[in-house]
Amino acid sequence: MLTIAIASLSGGQGKTTASLMLGRLLSRQGYPTLLVDADPQHNLTTYMDLELQANQPTLLEFLKKSVSAEDSIYPAEGNENLFLIPADDQLDTVQDYLSNSGVGATLLKRRLEPVADAFKVCIIDAPPQRSQICLTVLGAADTLIIPAEASVKGYGSLVRTLDLLRNLQDVGATEAQVMGVLPFRDRWIGNSQTQESRAAVTGMCEEVGEELILPSIRESERYKQAINRRSTLSDMGYTELEYPFEVLIDKISKLSKKQKAKS
Ligand SMILES: Nc1ncnc2c1ncn2[C@@H]1O[C@H](COP(=O)(O)OP(=O)(O)O)[C@@H](O)[C@H]1O
Ligand SMILES: [Mg+2]
Repeated sequence: MLTIAIASLSGGQGKTTASLMLGRLLSRQGYPTLLVDADPQHNLTTYMDLELQANQPTLLEFLKKSVSAEDSIYPAEGNENLFLIPADDQLDTVQDYLSNSGVGATLLKRRLEPVADAFKVCIIDAPPQRSQICLTVLGAADTLIIPAEASVKGYGSLVRTLDLLRNLQDVGATEAQVMGVLPFRDRWIGNSQTQESRAAVTGMCEEVGEELILPSIRESERYKQAINRRSTLSDMGYTELEYPFEVLIDKISKLSKKQKAKS
């Protein structure tokens, strides 16, 4: 199983959008995919239409190992290859557990090991702050996608995320490398990119090098529509908007093959 963290240290950077769209597309293309909602705001769980009762296990119980791993994994409706470990408001209470455990950074990685054979790809929607949950997510990841709004705020979010990643790599708390930076809400007016978007994407290129910059997600209501209608952009007739995800899936497929060859 290739574990991908989708992380960026601010809200509104496209983490949940990218997690959801990638999950839908990968599973449709035949990859058994496990989504993990690691954000206490649990938007991903909401978009997946999972209505949890108060006593049903979530990522909290999965991390605390208070139920068997399978009990926290739910199938997505109408998609036989897509599964979710959901979150609810209670997830925040796991922060103390993680810091007291002494092995917080490796905990999610360990918990995922027993289910790794059942999936080809695991996508983790990381929280927007530098928290214990964020550390365990980066610790579990083989690779990282950093979505960042094509704006001053997004550029800052990228810089802080890279800084955290480098600190963790330095102390051996993660082996994840950046798969790509995904500019989000890139704004164009007609055929020209707005100045702010262009400056932000140029800054991103300078941070990570051009080869790691993915084709951007344009500012467009259509992504929101696809999310809200539980659909994909290509099903709605906007195949061209799906291009950034096609490029990502190609990268994921290559990494997945590499991983398999290694094992
Ligand atoms: N292409 C797009 N253009 C404009 N807004 C978008 C686009 N795609 C998603 N959004 C909206 O942007 C907001 C932030 O995205 P989200 O994925 O939730 O970010 P994060 O998970 O990083 O907080 C959401 O309200 C989402 O519906
Ligand atoms: Mg989110």
